[in-house]
Amino acid sequence: MASRPPRTGITREQIFKQIMEQQRKIKEKMSKIKYKIMILSGKGGVGKSFVTASLAFALAKKGRKVAILDADIHGPSIPKMTGLQGYTLMASPEGEILPATAELGVKVVSIGLMLAEAATPVIWRGPLKASALRELLAYTAWGELDYLLIDLPPGTGDEQLSIAQLIPDLTGAIIVTIPSDVSRIVVLKAVTFAKKLNIPIIGIIENMSYFECPDGSRHYIFGKGAGRRIAEETGLRFLGEIPIDPRISEANDKGEPFFIKYPDSKAAKAFLAVADRVIEIVEGGGEEKGPSTEK
Ligand SMILES: Nc1ncnc2c1ncn2[C@@H]1O[C@H](COP(=O)(O)OP(=O)(O)OP(=O)(O)O)[C@@H](O)[C@H]1O
Ligand SMILES: [Mg+2]
Repeated sequence: MASRPPRTGITREQIFKQIMEQQRKIKEKMSKIKYKIMILSGKGGVGKSFVTASLAFALAKKGRKVAILDADIHGPSIPKMTGLQGYTLMASPEGEILPATAELGVKVVSIGLMLAEAATPVIWRGPLKASALRELLAYTAWGELDYLLIDLPPGTGDEQLSIAQLIPDLTGAIIVTIPSDVSRIVVLKAVTFAKKLNIPIIGIIENMSYFECPDGSRHYIFGKGAGRRIAEETGLRFLGEIPIDPRISEANDKGEPFFIKYPDSKAAKAFLAVADRVIEIVEGGGEEKGPSTEK
């Protein structure tokens, strides 16, 4: 049986007009944000959300104005990783979404901050997800920012495509991986996706690179150097490695931002180094001018 058209009570023309208006608003709002970066990985559970949250704090620590858009609609984990779990987003008198503010002034917008219960599942198909992302981008009072980091679900599906289409002037993508050769193929998928859509790749971050014992010895649990090898093979920049630290999952589980709680940890310092590298690449200066897929 043919599916019935939805009874929205509005005409196609009205929908079209509304979309055009939203696109115009997105363009206007995005023009006030200097650098817009999507965090990609072909694979789940590699630490994208943790990397997004920590990189946002590290950039803020370096004096940048930063916001995060949590574009993971089914599994939003940014509220917890930024210490904002339990907060609800408010609207301005003009009816715009006001981002929640985490430590160091990092602004956060997430579907997770709109649900009554964190465990409420969101069951939306592609077109609805695309319009939710369009509305979040168009109706949020982002203000003037240096960086907007966009956390995405794993893979290269609807959300990645929507973001690429909604923000045509994306500064670039950062690819997160773990150091196993199995993740090589998934990283290559993310690289192909970015290249097809003409999104410059800023570089690769290797998460969970090694575990350091109190005696200083390093153990390469998932293998050694795969992130760097993938970067060399693909001609991409290697932005740095983040060690494994059991306090990371503990802090994330408790809803305490790791970067803020353990500023002297090796992992927090690694994020500051990655932030320096990102700043150097996207803000130009030196020999590296702007992101490219070349090393
Ligand atoms: N360097 C690390 N050391 C220890 N634990 C880590 C590290 N990085 C991430 N984790 C933990 O690994 C788990 C997965 O991290 P995260 O949720 O950021 O991954 P993700 O790629 O966003 O996952 P998804 O694909 O489900 O969105 C979390 O429990 C997180 O606390
Ligand atoms: Mg995630």
